[in-house]
Amino acid sequence: LETKTPQYMNNDAKSFAYVSARDRWPVIITGAIDDTYRSITQCDDPEKLKEGKAIVAELASLKYELQHYRQMTPLRDDGEGDIAGYNAELEKLGTPTWFQAPWLFSECYLYRRISTSFSLSTQWKQYDIFSRQKMATFRSSRPAVLELAARYRELIGQIRKDKSQKGTPEHVEAEKILFHEMCEICLWGNATDLSLLTSLTYEDIQKLQGSEARKASEKNILVNDLEAAYAVLKQARDEGKAERRVDIVLDNAGFELYVDLILAGFLLSSGLATHVVLHPKSIPWFVSDVVPQDFSDLLSALAQPKKFYETQSEDEQLQDKTPEPLADKEAEDLAFLFQEWGQLYAEGQFVIRPNRFWTHGGSFWRLTAEKELVEDLKTSELVIFKGDLNYRKLTADAAWDPTTPFTEAIGPMGPGSGINVLALRTCKADVVVGLKPGEDERIRATEGGGGDSGIRKWAWSGKWAVVSYSGGK
Ligand code: F6P
Ligand code: MG
Repeated sequence: LETKTPQYMNNDAKSFAYVSARDRWPVIITGAIDDTYRSITQCDDPEKLKEGKAIVAELASLKYELQHYRQMTPLRDDGEGDIAGYNAELEKLGTPTWFQAPWLFSECYLYRRISTSFSLSTQWKQYDIFSRQKMATFRSSRPAVLELAARYRELIGQIRKDKSQKGTPEHVEAEKILFHEMCEICLWGNATDLSLLTSLTYEDIQKLQGSEARKASEKNILVNDLEAAYAVLKQARDEGKAERRVDIVLDNAGFELYVDLILAGFLLSSGLATHVVLHPKSIPWFVSDVVPQDFSDLLSALAQPKKFYETQSEDEQLQDKTPEPLADKEAEDLAFLFQEWGQLYAEGQFVIRPNRFWTHGGSFWRLTAEKELVEDLKTSELVIFKGDLNYRKLTADAAWDPTTPFTEAIGPMGPGSGINVLALRTCKADVVVGLKPGEDERIRATEGGGGDSGIRKWAWSGKWAVVSYSGGK
């Protein structure tokens, strides 16, 4: 199942594919090498050390091949079922050079290839090259994390107190507004993924995350279908359905996962859902994506917030910086989250369900061929796809006319699929659909929008967003 619309290619000098492949991937691989090297210096097992050095050498040659636009080579078999699919695709594409390859496939291949260096080792199988970076950025999101924790605790308290009001028109209206707010927090939480960190400072990130920033950003949501998504959840509840599930196909760890859990907790507490199923990746992916270990890392940070924020990090030690102490109230707010989420998890209302499909090299036009996964997602009231990459996969990363309806651009995932799709996406790549006629041109004409260069530059930075819904039932 493929789209006939051509996909973005790495050699298209007007696309973000070109910039990514040429400028950003080498930086990302260098970061992975540095991280592995750091772990090697901290390791005293000679066997592990030797293997670590071999991995570093492999990553260095990957970087060389990429920067010199060599042919992409078949992946080595590490025993996982997806390798054959990757290699068949490579063959189908005529074993292209990195330059001639489609952006979506070659970028997935890049992360899958890196992961084979670790999975084929004996001592580094579980190693996550991006883990340090993910935790460090989460820690630096401290102001927004604290602001949201306080807000969430207050809100949950209120929802519990107002139980008697349930069903009154005022209550429904308030719930709808909150649903919008929570989803928007969850949307903008995606603006700060680490693969873009090559160009953003920590200060920029903090600015992007605060509530002021969120209000100011509402005008930057170009398509907003939240009304339809809310209606679906409300209707299921009104019909008295006993089990009502929402799925979140996760994107990034750290701050974004934190806000995803805030949304999930809100859906459960408000009764808009009875279960939330979370879908992480199975291997380190696009730098900051969630792998199962990131859940425990996040929860341990919340379990002992003072320890997490007040213990000097490696970098702070080097720079002789002392972290700001946490106020008691701040620590209590975080501990409250830990308790709430721990309980929801223990009671089976939060479920974590990895699937190798999410790290395949193809688009989600192929999801309908994954019988088990499709059947599972069909039982959900709403499947929320977070972030840019998921949106690229939904739309097959193809060069659609921007006024193409979302329901058309997602092909077999659209009407009739049996799956209700909601994409929460800040734009960090060229593909965008569902815009009103003239909208693309209007934004191109704004500062930094690309002007008449023929480049859709506005869509690269995470400043603009689209929230698109497709009813599949
Ligand atoms: O290399 C660029 C890029 O792949 C984006 O286009 C992309 O999809 C992004 O990195 C990761 O963003 P997100 O975490 O929102 O999927
Ligand atoms: Mg990501």
